[in-house]
Amino acid sequence: MATNNRHLLGLEGVSADDITVLLDTAESLTEVSRRDVKKLPTLRGKTVINLFLENSTRTRTSFEIAAKRMSADTINISASTSSLSKGETLEDTARNLAAMAPDAIVVRHPAAGAARFLAEIIDCPIINAGDGAHEHPTQALLDLLTIRQHAKSFEGLVVTIVGDILHSRVARSNLYGLKTLGAKVRLAGPPSLLPRELEQFGAELHYDLAEAVRGADVVMMLRIQRERQVGNFFPSLDEYASYYCLTEDALAEAKREVIILHPGPINRGIEIASGVADGPYSLIMSQVANGVALRMAVLYQLIVPVAEGIRGSAMDETPASPPLRAAGQGG
Ligand code: CP
Repeated sequence: MATNNRHLLGLEGVSADDITVLLDTAESLTEVSRRDVKKLPTLRGKTVINLFLENSTRTRTSFEIAAKRMSADTINISASTSSLSKGETLEDTARNLAAMAPDAIVVRHPAAGAARFLAEIIDCPIINAGDGAHEHPTQALLDLLTIRQHAKSFEGLVVTIVGDILHSRVARSNLYGLKTLGAKVRLAGPPSLLPRELEQFGAELHYDLAEAVRGADVVMMLRIQRERQVGNFFPSLDEYASYYCLTEDALAEAKREVIILHPGPINRGIEIASGVADGPYSLIMSQVANGVALRMAVLYQLIVPVAEGIRGSAMDETPASPPLRAAGQGG
Protein backbone atom coordinates (compact mmCIF):
# COMPACT_ATOMS: atom_id res chain seq x y z
CA MET A 1 0.00 0.00 0.00
CA ALA A 2 1.00 3.62 0.03
CA THR A 3 2.52 3.11 3.46
CA ASN A 4 4.71 0.26 4.69
CA ASN A 5 1.69 -1.97 5.35
CA ARG A 6 2.42 -5.46 4.05
CA HIS A 7 -1.05 -6.91 4.47
CA LEU A 8 -4.68 -5.93 4.00
CA LEU A 9 -6.44 -7.44 7.01
CA GLY A 10 -9.23 -4.92 7.51
CA LEU A 11 -10.16 -1.25 7.13
CA GLU A 12 -10.22 -0.47 10.86
CA GLY A 13 -7.35 1.97 11.38
CA VAL A 14 -6.47 2.34 7.67
CA SER A 15 -5.93 6.02 6.87
CA ALA A 16 -7.93 8.08 4.40
CA ASP A 17 -4.72 8.53 2.37
CA ASP A 18 -4.16 4.77 2.06
CA ILE A 19 -7.79 4.18 1.09
CA THR A 20 -7.58 6.96 -1.49
CA VAL A 21 -4.40 5.51 -3.04
CA LEU A 22 -6.16 2.16 -3.47
CA LEU A 23 -9.29 3.77 -4.94
CA ASP A 24 -7.24 5.93 -7.33
CA THR A 25 -5.21 2.90 -8.46
CA ALA A 26 -8.39 0.88 -8.96
CA GLU A 27 -10.03 3.71 -10.91
CA SER A 28 -7.08 3.79 -13.30
CA LEU A 29 -7.37 0.02 -13.79
CA THR A 30 -11.11 -0.10 -14.59
CA GLU A 31 -10.46 0.44 -18.29
CA VAL A 32 -8.38 -2.76 -18.57
CA SER A 33 -11.62 -4.77 -18.36
CA ARG A 34 -12.98 -2.90 -21.39
CA ARG A 35 -9.97 -3.74 -23.60
CA ASP A 36 -9.93 -6.43 -26.27
CA VAL A 37 -6.81 -7.89 -24.71
CA LYS A 38 -7.40 -7.70 -20.95
CA LYS A 39 -3.84 -8.16 -19.80
CA LEU A 40 -1.07 -6.12 -18.19
CA PRO A 41 2.39 -7.53 -17.53
CA THR A 42 2.63 -5.82 -14.14
CA LEU A 43 2.75 -8.97 -11.98
CA ARG A 44 4.53 -11.29 -14.42
CA GLY A 45 6.52 -13.90 -12.50
CA LYS A 46 4.47 -13.39 -9.32
CA THR A 47 2.29 -16.11 -7.74
CA VAL A 48 -0.99 -15.51 -5.92
CA ILE A 49 -2.63 -18.27 -3.85
CA ASN A 50 -6.40 -17.99 -3.30
CA LEU A 51 -7.06 -19.96 -0.11
CA PHE A 52 -10.85 -20.01 0.10
CA LEU A 53 -12.00 -22.06 3.08
CA GLU A 54 -15.56 -20.74 2.85
CA ASN A 55 -17.76 -20.56 -0.25
CA SER A 56 -17.56 -17.60 -2.60
CA THR A 57 -18.60 -16.64 -6.11
CA ARG A 58 -17.71 -12.96 -6.56
CA THR A 59 -14.64 -12.56 -4.34
CA ARG A 60 -12.78 -15.71 -5.39
CA THR A 61 -13.51 -15.27 -9.09
CA SER A 62 -12.60 -11.59 -9.14
CA PHE A 63 -9.33 -12.16 -7.23
CA GLU A 64 -8.40 -14.83 -9.78
CA ILE A 65 -9.35 -12.62 -12.73
CA ALA A 66 -7.54 -9.65 -11.16
CA ALA A 67 -4.32 -11.63 -10.73
CA LYS A 68 -4.53 -13.06 -14.25
CA ARG A 69 -5.22 -9.65 -15.80
CA MET A 70 -1.91 -8.55 -14.26
CA SER A 71 -0.12 -11.70 -15.56
CA ALA A 72 0.38 -13.32 -12.13
CA ASP A 73 0.13 -17.11 -11.78
CA THR A 74 -2.84 -18.12 -9.61
CA ILE A 75 -3.56 -21.21 -7.54
CA ASN A 76 -7.01 -21.85 -6.05
CA ILE A 77 -7.44 -23.94 -2.92
CA SER A 78 -10.73 -24.82 -1.22
CA ALA A 79 -11.38 -26.63 2.06
CA SER A 80 -12.82 -29.72 0.41
CA THR A 81 -9.93 -30.20 -2.04
CA SER A 82 -7.11 -29.45 0.43
CA SER A 83 -5.53 -31.57 3.14
CA LEU A 84 -7.50 -29.55 5.70
CA SER A 85 -10.16 -32.18 4.99
CA LYS A 86 -7.67 -34.80 6.31
CA GLY A 87 -7.17 -32.96 9.59
CA GLU A 88 -4.21 -30.69 8.76
CA THR A 89 -4.32 -27.46 10.74
CA LEU A 90 -4.63 -24.00 9.19
CA GLU A 91 -1.16 -23.19 10.54
CA ASP A 92 0.45 -26.24 8.91
CA THR A 93 -1.43 -25.60 5.68
CA ALA A 94 -0.23 -21.99 5.63
CA ARG A 95 3.40 -22.88 6.43
CA ASN A 96 3.43 -25.45 3.61
CA LEU A 97 1.97 -22.97 1.13
CA ALA A 98 4.48 -20.33 2.25
CA ALA A 99 7.33 -22.80 1.60
CA MET A 100 6.37 -22.67 -2.09
CA ALA A 101 7.22 -18.93 -2.14
CA PRO A 102 3.96 -17.27 -3.16
CA ASP A 103 3.98 -13.48 -3.51
CA ALA A 104 0.58 -13.11 -1.80
CA ILE A 105 -2.04 -15.29 -0.15
CA VAL A 106 -5.70 -14.28 -0.36
CA VAL A 107 -7.62 -15.97 2.43
CA ARG A 108 -11.30 -16.42 3.21
CA HIS A 109 -12.13 -18.27 6.41
CA PRO A 110 -15.23 -18.71 8.57
CA ALA A 111 -13.33 -17.67 11.73
CA ALA A 112 -12.78 -14.03 12.65
CA GLY A 113 -9.06 -13.34 12.97
CA ALA A 114 -7.90 -16.07 10.55
CA ALA A 115 -6.23 -13.59 8.17
CA ARG A 116 -4.37 -11.88 11.04
CA PHE A 117 -3.25 -15.28 12.32
CA LEU A 118 -1.70 -16.10 8.93
CA ALA A 119 -0.06 -12.66 8.75
CA GLU A 120 1.66 -13.37 12.07
CA ILE A 121 3.13 -16.73 11.07
CA ILE A 122 4.10 -16.46 7.43
CA ASP A 123 6.23 -14.10 5.44
CA CYS A 124 4.26 -12.87 2.44
CA PRO A 125 1.43 -10.34 2.06
CA ILE A 126 -1.92 -11.65 3.36
CA ILE A 127 -5.17 -10.26 1.94
CA ASN A 128 -8.33 -10.83 3.96
CA ALA A 129 -11.13 -11.94 1.62
CA GLY A 130 -13.58 -12.21 4.53
CA ASP A 131 -12.99 -13.65 8.02
CA GLY A 132 -16.14 -14.70 9.85
CA ALA A 133 -18.20 -11.72 10.97
CA HIS A 134 -15.05 -9.58 11.37
CA GLU A 135 -14.03 -7.76 8.13
CA HIS A 136 -14.22 -7.96 4.34
CA PRO A 137 -11.98 -5.06 3.36
CA THR A 138 -11.88 -5.55 -0.42
CA GLN A 139 -15.69 -5.65 -0.54
CA ALA A 140 -15.87 -2.34 1.34
CA LEU A 141 -13.19 -0.82 -0.90
CA LEU A 142 -15.09 -1.76 -4.05
CA ASP A 143 -18.23 -0.33 -2.45
CA LEU A 144 -16.33 2.91 -1.74
CA LEU A 145 -15.08 2.99 -5.34
CA THR A 146 -18.64 2.53 -6.64
CA ILE A 147 -19.96 5.28 -4.35
CA ARG A 148 -17.11 7.62 -5.34
CA GLN A 149 -17.97 7.21 -9.03
CA HIS A 150 -21.45 8.63 -8.28
CA ALA A 151 -20.99 11.11 -5.43
CA LYS A 152 -19.07 14.39 -5.41
CA SER A 153 -17.56 13.73 -2.01
CA PHE A 154 -17.77 11.37 0.96
CA GLU A 155 -17.92 14.33 3.35
CA GLY A 156 -21.43 14.42 4.84
CA LEU A 157 -22.75 11.71 2.48
CA VAL A 158 -25.55 9.76 4.19
CA VAL A 159 -25.05 6.00 3.78
CA THR A 160 -27.67 3.64 5.21
CA ILE A 161 -26.72 -0.02 5.69
CA VAL A 162 -29.68 -2.33 6.39
CA GLY A 163 -29.87 -5.97 7.42
CA ASP A 164 -28.03 -8.52 9.52
CA ILE A 165 -25.44 -6.08 10.86
CA LEU A 166 -24.48 -8.37 13.76
CA HIS A 167 -23.07 -11.08 11.47
CA SER A 168 -21.88 -8.81 8.65
CA ARG A 169 -18.17 -8.34 7.94
CA VAL A 170 -19.24 -6.12 5.02
CA ALA A 171 -21.07 -3.73 7.37
CA ARG A 172 -18.05 -3.47 9.68
CA SER A 173 -15.51 -2.80 6.92
CA ASN A 174 -17.83 -0.26 5.29
CA LEU A 175 -18.47 1.48 8.61
CA TYR A 176 -14.70 1.91 9.21
CA GLY A 177 -13.95 3.03 5.65
CA LEU A 178 -16.93 5.37 5.29
CA LYS A 179 -16.35 7.07 8.66
CA THR A 180 -12.64 7.54 7.85
CA LEU A 181 -13.62 9.28 4.60
CA GLY A 182 -16.16 11.57 6.32
CA ALA A 183 -19.52 9.94 5.51
CA LYS A 184 -22.47 9.66 7.93
CA VAL A 185 -23.33 6.00 8.49
CA ARG A 186 -26.74 4.74 9.57
CA LEU A 187 -27.06 1.07 10.49
CA ALA A 188 -30.58 -0.41 10.46
CA GLY A 189 -32.23 -3.71 11.31
CA PRO A 190 -34.10 -5.50 14.08
CA PRO A 191 -32.65 -4.88 17.58
CA SER A 192 -31.47 -8.51 17.77
CA LEU A 193 -29.21 -7.96 14.71
CA LEU A 194 -27.98 -4.44 15.51
CA PRO A 195 -25.13 -4.39 18.07
CA ARG A 196 -25.21 -1.20 20.12
CA GLU A 197 -21.41 -1.13 20.44
CA LEU A 198 -21.14 -0.01 16.81
CA GLU A 199 -22.28 3.45 18.00
CA GLN A 200 -18.76 3.91 19.38
CA PHE A 201 -17.48 3.93 15.77
CA GLY A 202 -19.79 6.82 14.92
CA ALA A 203 -22.76 4.91 13.48
CA GLU A 204 -26.38 5.99 14.00
CA LEU A 205 -28.62 3.01 14.83
CA HIS A 206 -32.15 2.70 13.43
CA TYR A 207 -34.82 0.05 13.91
CA ASP A 208 -37.30 1.55 11.43
CA LEU A 209 -36.53 1.14 7.72
CA ALA A 210 -38.36 4.27 6.53
CA GLU A 211 -36.59 6.41 9.12
CA ALA A 212 -33.20 4.90 8.23
CA VAL A 213 -33.68 5.46 4.49
CA ARG A 214 -35.13 9.00 4.79
CA GLY A 215 -32.83 11.45 2.99
CA ALA A 216 -30.13 8.81 2.33
CA ASP A 217 -27.70 9.24 -0.58
CA VAL A 218 -26.73 5.55 -0.57
CA VAL A 219 -28.69 2.53 0.63
CA MET A 220 -26.76 -0.71 1.05
CA MET A 221 -28.85 -3.83 1.68
CA LEU A 222 -27.37 -6.91 3.35
CA ARG A 223 -28.39 -10.54 3.31
CA ILE A 224 -29.50 -12.42 6.42
CA GLN A 225 -26.37 -14.51 7.17
CA ARG A 226 -28.11 -17.71 8.23
CA GLU A 227 -24.83 -19.65 8.05
CA ARG A 228 -23.47 -17.53 10.93
CA GLN A 229 -26.62 -17.33 13.05
CA VAL A 230 -26.86 -19.48 16.14
CA GLY A 231 -30.40 -19.14 17.50
CA ASN A 232 -33.48 -17.26 16.35
CA PHE A 233 -33.03 -13.53 15.75
CA PHE A 234 -36.53 -12.89 14.33
CA PRO A 235 -39.76 -14.94 14.13
CA SER A 236 -39.64 -15.79 10.40
CA LEU A 237 -38.12 -14.62 7.11
CA ASP A 238 -41.58 -13.45 6.00
CA GLU A 239 -41.88 -11.28 9.07
CA TYR A 240 -38.34 -9.94 8.62
CA ALA A 241 -39.12 -9.08 4.99
CA SER A 242 -42.34 -7.29 5.96
CA TYR A 243 -40.27 -4.84 8.07
CA TYR A 244 -36.90 -4.64 6.30
CA CYS A 245 -37.24 -5.57 2.62
CA LEU A 246 -36.28 -2.60 0.42
CA THR A 247 -39.23 -2.09 -1.92
CA GLU A 248 -39.94 0.76 -4.34
CA ASP A 249 -42.28 2.26 -1.69
CA ALA A 250 -39.60 2.16 1.02
CA LEU A 251 -37.09 3.68 -1.38
CA ALA A 252 -39.34 6.71 -1.95
CA GLU A 253 -38.05 8.04 1.41
CA ALA A 254 -34.47 8.34 0.08
CA LYS A 255 -32.96 11.18 -1.95
CA ARG A 256 -34.18 11.33 -5.56
CA GLU A 257 -30.71 10.42 -6.92
CA VAL A 258 -30.14 7.63 -4.35
CA ILE A 259 -27.93 4.70 -5.31
CA ILE A 260 -28.58 1.12 -4.17
CA LEU A 261 -25.76 -1.28 -3.31
CA HIS A 262 -25.70 -4.93 -2.27
CA PRO A 263 -22.54 -7.03 -1.86
CA GLY A 264 -24.34 -10.20 -2.98
CA PRO A 265 -25.43 -12.89 -2.89
CA ILE A 266 -28.96 -11.48 -3.00
CA ASN A 267 -31.97 -13.15 -1.45
CA ARG A 268 -34.68 -11.60 -3.59
CA GLY A 269 -37.89 -10.72 -1.80
CA ILE A 270 -36.26 -10.98 1.64
CA GLU A 271 -33.90 -7.99 2.00
CA ILE A 272 -34.49 -6.45 -1.43
CA ALA A 273 -37.35 -6.57 -3.95
CA SER A 274 -36.40 -7.64 -7.47
CA GLY A 275 -37.76 -4.35 -8.83
CA VAL A 276 -35.22 -2.45 -6.69
CA ALA A 277 -32.30 -4.86 -7.24
CA ASP A 278 -32.74 -4.65 -11.01
CA GLY A 279 -34.09 -1.08 -11.07
CA PRO A 280 -32.63 2.23 -12.24
CA TYR A 281 -30.97 3.13 -8.92
CA SER A 282 -29.19 -0.18 -8.50
CA LEU A 283 -25.39 -0.30 -8.97
CA ILE A 284 -25.06 -3.93 -7.94
CA MET A 285 -23.48 -5.03 -11.22
CA SER A 286 -21.14 -2.00 -11.16
CA GLN A 287 -19.97 -3.20 -7.74
CA VAL A 288 -19.13 -6.60 -9.23
CA ALA A 289 -17.29 -5.02 -12.17
CA ASN A 290 -15.38 -2.69 -9.85
CA GLY A 291 -14.36 -5.70 -7.75
CA VAL A 292 -11.90 -6.82 -10.42
CA ALA A 293 -10.16 -3.43 -10.73
CA LEU A 294 -10.12 -2.93 -6.97
CA ARG A 295 -8.54 -6.35 -6.41
CA MET A 296 -5.99 -5.66 -9.15
CA ALA A 297 -5.10 -2.48 -7.24
CA VAL A 298 -4.75 -4.31 -3.92
CA LEU A 299 -2.55 -7.05 -5.42
CA TYR A 300 -0.39 -4.43 -7.12
CA GLN A 301 0.00 -2.25 -4.03
CA LEU A 302 0.90 -5.19 -1.78
CA ILE A 303 3.05 -7.28 -4.10
CA VAL A 304 5.13 -4.49 -5.59
CA PRO A 305 6.27 -2.41 -2.61
CA VAL A 306 7.42 1.17 -3.05
CA ALA A 307 10.69 0.16 -1.38
CA GLU A 308 11.68 -1.97 -4.39
CA GLY A 309 12.22 1.32 -6.21
CA ILE A 310 11.13 -0.26 -9.47
CA ARG A 311 7.45 0.50 -9.31
CA GLY A 312 6.02 2.85 -11.88
CA SER A 313 2.28 2.95 -12.35
CA ALA A 314 -0.02 -0.06 -12.16
CA MET A 315 -0.80 0.68 -15.81
CA ASP A 316 2.81 0.33 -16.98
CA GLU A 317 3.10 -1.93 -19.98
CA THR A 318 6.33 -3.43 -18.64
CA PRO A 319 6.43 -5.81 -15.68
CA ALA A 320 7.11 -4.15 -12.33
CA SER A 321 9.92 -6.60 -11.67
CA PRO A 322 11.01 -7.83 -15.12
CA PRO A 323 12.46 -11.33 -14.65
CA LEU A 324 14.29 -11.46 -18.01
CA ARG A 325 16.23 -8.24 -17.51
CA ALA A 326 16.90 -9.15 -13.88
CA ALA A 327 18.51 -12.36 -15.13
CA GLY A 328 20.56 -10.46 -17.67
CA GLN A 329 18.82 -12.11 -20.58
CA GLY A 330 16.67 -9.29 -21.87
CA GLY A 331 17.02 -5.87 -23.39
N1 CP B 1 -19.72 -10.22 -1.70
C1 CP B 1 -19.17 -11.43 -1.53
O1 CP B 1 -18.27 -11.62 -0.71
O2 CP B 1 -19.68 -12.41 -2.35
P1 CP B 1 -19.10 -13.90 -2.42
O3 CP B 1 -19.42 -14.55 -1.10
O4 CP B 1 -19.81 -14.55 -3.58
O5 CP B 1 -17.62 -13.81 -2.62
